[in-house]
Amino acid sequence: MRLTQTQLDAFDREGYLFFPGLFKPDEVKTLTDEVPALYARREAFNVREKDSDAVRTNFAAHLYSEPFARLARHPRMVLPVQQLFDDEPLYMHQFKVNGKMAFEGDVWQWHQDYGTWKNDDWMPTERAMNVAIFLDDVNEFNGPLMFIPGSHKKGGIDAQHDLTTTSYPLWTVDNELIAALVERAGGKQGGIVSPKGPAGSMILFHSCLVHASTSNLSPWNRVSVYLSLCAVSNHIQRFKRPEFIAHRDFTPIDCLPDDCLRERCPVDLPWKDGMPASALVTSAEHVKEAA
Ligand code: SIN
Ligand code: MN
Repeated sequence: MRLTQTQLDAFDREGYLFFPGLFKPDEVKTLTDEVPALYARREAFNVREKDSDAVRTNFAAHLYSEPFARLARHPRMVLPVQQLFDDEPLYMHQFKVNGKMAFEGDVWQWHQDYGTWKNDDWMPTERAMNVAIFLDDVNEFNGPLMFIPGSHKKGGIDAQHDLTTTSYPLWTVDNELIAALVERAGGKQGGIVSPKGPAGSMILFHSCLVHASTSNLSPWNRVSVYLSLCAVSNHIQRFKRPEFIAHRDFTPIDCLPDDCLRERCPVDLPWKDGMPASALVTSAEHVKEAA
């Protein structure tokens, strides 16, 4: 799949591209069938909501779950990202299966992902990309992702480290700047957008695009996979966060065939028998050499 010039221009202008129904129902089912077992595990890689047992984020499933390992190498997901980075090799910086479960899914405050990658992981530049893949239908009621179109043009924004609002710390953007960015993007006419669509839809979005989502008070889960791919030349410089959150293996992603969610393509599962103790070791120091 090659992006057209129109898509490249839209990405440059808006900071995101939406592909409704890109993955078909049988492909999505291979992934959704795995989710209850992943969420049931009592492990550090399952971060639960603040006041409930519901999983907010499952991390690093691509290292211990076969269908997710295949998704992490899917050409329909990897190749467009690679094209946006002039075909540079990419590695997986972060891999999340966010629950946003019915009645329980909590908010994600306004933020840029690059804020966290820069401040916590010392990722040198914004040369990394987010991909969201819906495993459930996303509608206006179950907490869709919201974007401020064009906000990526602001580059990295100074952020505050919010350690209290939700169960997961985030470098967030203050309300005054959000209001100004929304106004600049068109105010009530398109200043905030939220791509919605069937399970299997995919969004690519710039690491500096400002985004958020509200809580899910609906009776419908909103499970989505978030993959963050980083140019190998832009890999992180310190391991302040555990390895299941910010990966330390900078090996370029090698794509599998397009039918890899249907066929049983063999994949390596390095954490199949458990997460290594080293994945929990963190450091406040520059660790480039150790990588
Ligand atoms: C994120 O911003 O990383 C997740 C947002 C969401 O799941 O709605
Ligand atoms: Mn984010």
